[in-house]
Amino acid sequence: MRMYDLIERKKHGGKLSRQEIHEMVQGFVRGEIPDYQMAAMLMAVYFKGMDREETLGLTLEMASSGDMVDLSGIEGIKVDKHSTGGVGDKTTLVIGPLAASLGVKVAKMSGRGLGHTGGTIDKLESIPGLTTAVSQERFFGIVNETGIAVIGQSGNMVPADKKLYALRDVTATVDSIPLIASSIMSKKIAAGSDGIVLDVKTGSGAFMKSLEDSVELAKEMTAIGTGAGRRCCALITDMDVPLGSAIGNSLEVAEAIETLKGRGPRDLTEVCLQLCTHMLYMAGKGDVDSCYAMAREAMTDGRGVKTLAAMVKAQGGDETYILEPDRFPKAPYRLEVTADREGHITHIDTAGCGIASAMLGAGRQRKEDDIDHSAGICLCKKYGDQVKKGDVIAVMYTSKEELLNGASKKLLDSYTIGDGEPGDKKLIYARVTEDGVEMF
Ligand code: URA
Repeated sequence: MRMYDLIERKKHGGKLSRQEIHEMVQGFVRGEIPDYQMAAMLMAVYFKGMDREETLGLTLEMASSGDMVDLSGIEGIKVDKHSTGGVGDKTTLVIGPLAASLGVKVAKMSGRGLGHTGGTIDKLESIPGLTTAVSQERFFGIVNETGIAVIGQSGNMVPADKKLYALRDVTATVDSIPLIASSIMSKKIAAGSDGIVLDVKTGSGAFMKSLEDSVELAKEMTAIGTGAGRRCCALITDMDVPLGSAIGNSLEVAEAIETLKGRGPRDLTEVCLQLCTHMLYMAGKGDVDSCYAMAREAMTDGRGVKTLAAMVKAQGGDETYILEPDRFPKAPYRLEVTADREGHITHIDTAGCGIASAMLGAGRQRKEDDIDHSAGICLCKKYGDQVKKGDVIAVMYTSKEELLNGASKKLLDSYTIGDGEPGDKKLIYARVTEDGVEMF
């Protein structure tokens, strides 16, 4: 195989065979194919795409480029969930324990936040003592004991994605559906669960800004999941508005706990119930309606919170923070951000809200940056709300007073206050399964 020939073929829209993809991925991971040739290939894929067979082949070759987790040491059906990322997205902290409390095994590997999006590992690390770096043996043990463990990705999983993602990041080739689908699904497949529920976000805070692109991505990812022998479905959920009210690590953990107790914001509660329903459904716990009823009941009777507390304790954390979330330290500085005119909130640039939170110290711009776990934003007004001039639209928290001004300007710029009342927005736009797309 000559990499030059593959690039030339893909440049003209030709197809790569599975053997060629295998040799290309292996050669790249071993360092035999240089970055400049792989960058040219990525750009050719960006413009000419890949068909289903090529995308599945690329995903499986990436998944097997490093360690594949064998979850057979965990009893029962294991179901994973993946969100394509957003602002205020604390759903894993709600639906993981909820599904586990109903008998689904959740052996989850999560990531950190970067840029405007948050990450579950950063949120969990706001709980004193909790570790997300445990041995595989202990990981399996915790899932067998409590039904759930959430840890960081182990060192040698999917090295092909680590190298490819870094290259895509600097060659303007991130936003390609076959490349995003293979990147996400290679990690899910290597993580070993029997079922995968995908939460594909759409809107101003998501990777995919348009519903059409989000549905395309969901179709591609569910086809890969199914093609790899996993049960797989996707929900397309709204990320045109931050999810819930809290943005920032310990603030989001506290809101997730409230939601697990059935006292969360309406949008977060409904998205969590729907995602949990589909985790239960993937685990064969019943039809969609009965799974929804089970999830709702577990949210009101406190089973989910007990499971989260058990997981936190097993991962070395102080579970009293879960039982009494008021214990989370409050940031020393706060600022109320007020509306500068009267009207209705007609648009929120959700990525802008995520950036404002990161500017307060809740996120990082570079991988090595430290996080201020108490920093973040509580939104008091969201899309569609009516405001008068001077009404508080959000409260900001940080440990560094000097960060408040820039972040509050960014947040205010992210809000559009207009004259008319805007139309309703959906929370769930579609469900995608191997049988097709169901629009809501
Ligand atoms: N998340 C990933 O893991 N990969 C992508 O390509 C995009 C989002």
